[in-house]
Amino acid sequence: MEKLCIASTNEGKIRELKSLLGDVFALHPLGEWGILPEAEEPFESFLENAQAKAKHYADFTQMLTLSEDAGLCIRALNHFPGVHSKRFIAESGGLSNAFDRLEEMLSAKGDCRAEFVCVSAIYDPRSGRSFTGKGIMGGEILFPAKGTDGFGFDPIFVPDGYDRTIAELGISVKTVIGHRGKSVRALLENYCPRVLP
Ligand code: IMP
Repeated sequence: MEKLCIASTNEGKIRELKSLLGDVFALHPLGEWGILPEAEEPFESFLENAQAKAKHYADFTQMLTLSEDAGLCIRALNHFPGVHSKRFIAESGGLSNAFDRLEEMLSAKGDCRAEFVCVSAIYDPRSGRSFTGKGIMGGEILFPAKGTDGFGFDPIFVPDGYDRTIAELGISVKTVIGHRGKSVRALLENYCPRVLP
């Protein structure tokens, strides 16, 4: 099996990626390399951030490396927080405060439409080539937060076709309908068609 570094320290992401890719690659979480300088996310697009992060970590690991950039895009807020999702949570002082702020921002809007976006990127340091895949999951924002089987904004997001949040539906549903699963499957089609069923 080919070795692949999972360039993330987010336990929620790593759990999903293991479930999505564990049968395809021998996975090596970033923690195996000790503490590395954190990649920046300087761009205004998920694609550019994902590619930059994959290359940043592959330069350290010298291994085929997967990174990704994901976020929640809320229609009534002009796709905010989007690529700034991580920063928004940090500047809010944590997830619970971020949920409160979003509820306040959305209270006068009357529009709860949102989508999760994820772009996954593999960088191959041997060839210098990168491969990407994008996934989107549409749904609505719901308050108060519900469910515990998830991370980040999962407890306030109800995907289309369901009446429970992603954090209530759990990882088994999320890997099938979620943005991360879709992006990883699209990435694999670009990277290695031979491993697809
Ligand atoms: P990152 O920049 O890709 O690490 O993601 C930014 C932030 O978006 C993360 O810190 C999470 O809080 C949130 N996020 C990313 N992916 C998901 C997801 O699948 N569900 C819920 N929140 C997510």
